[in-house]
Amino acid sequence: MTGSILPRVIGHRGAAAHAPENTLAGFACAVRLGVGWIELDVQLTADGVPVVFHDDRLDRTSDGHGLLVETSLADIRRLDAGGWFAERFSGEKIPTLSEALSFLVKQGQGLCLEVKASEARGGSTARAALAEVERSWPADGPPLVISSFAKSALAVADEMAPDRPRGLLVEKVPSDWRDEVSGLGCTSLHVDQTTLDEKTVRAVKEAGLALFAYTVNDRLRAEQLWGWGADTLFSDCPEQLLSGSDG
Ligand code: G3P
Ligand code: MG
Repeated sequence: MTGSILPRVIGHRGAAAHAPENTLAGFACAVRLGVGWIELDVQLTADGVPVVFHDDRLDRTSDGHGLLVETSLADIRRLDAGGWFAERFSGEKIPTLSEALSFLVKQGQGLCLEVKASEARGGSTARAALAEVERSWPADGPPLVISSFAKSALAVADEMAPDRPRGLLVEKVPSDWRDEVSGLGCTSLHVDQTTLDEKTVRAVKEAGLALFAYTVNDRLRAEQLWGWGADTLFSDCPEQLLSGSDG
């Protein structure tokens, strides 16, 4: 993947500072704020349906309780995923991946699809998510990158969708990152921005990889990371980073 097709900013979980994360309302908000790409998190329900949700537990970002992976799609669809954020978002649902992909394709949005799973569940989660991508995302559709902390998920993505670019997610760039990335056939490294310094960013770029950094909500920090060579920054408030930038 060349840096040239990548955006400077990706709306993190939509635009998580302005609208409930990982909801269609959040994605619509990010589009209104001017992003060209969205990041979302995918997990499987108890009955194996890929849905868009970040946490293990339902409690923080919905009116449900307990573990998402132990909850059926039917029960998940009864939950309100907007009211916790602000009253005007009450009634917002946890989207299925199918709904989210259809929405983003219609909007012409690029996508960073994060398979959010443990190593043990990474393979099955990626398998279901990639099957949905195959159904809902046209081959000539907007750009789509698959990312995960789970190497099992990236291995399945390589097997099922070898032509889709893959990114390895890490909190801190590990000492063996070159082997990790090349073993998984990844073209990008997605790193917690608080662990990044200039030397690390430049080393990743010199290796020919794209560098994505999460989560950057401060314009000055964004300028610093871009200055070091970072390609793409995930942001909860993308408008702060987009103002005065070329997108
Ligand atoms: O994909 C980048 C970022 O979303 C990874 O961290 O916890 O926000 O999913 P998290
Ligand atoms: Mg994420």
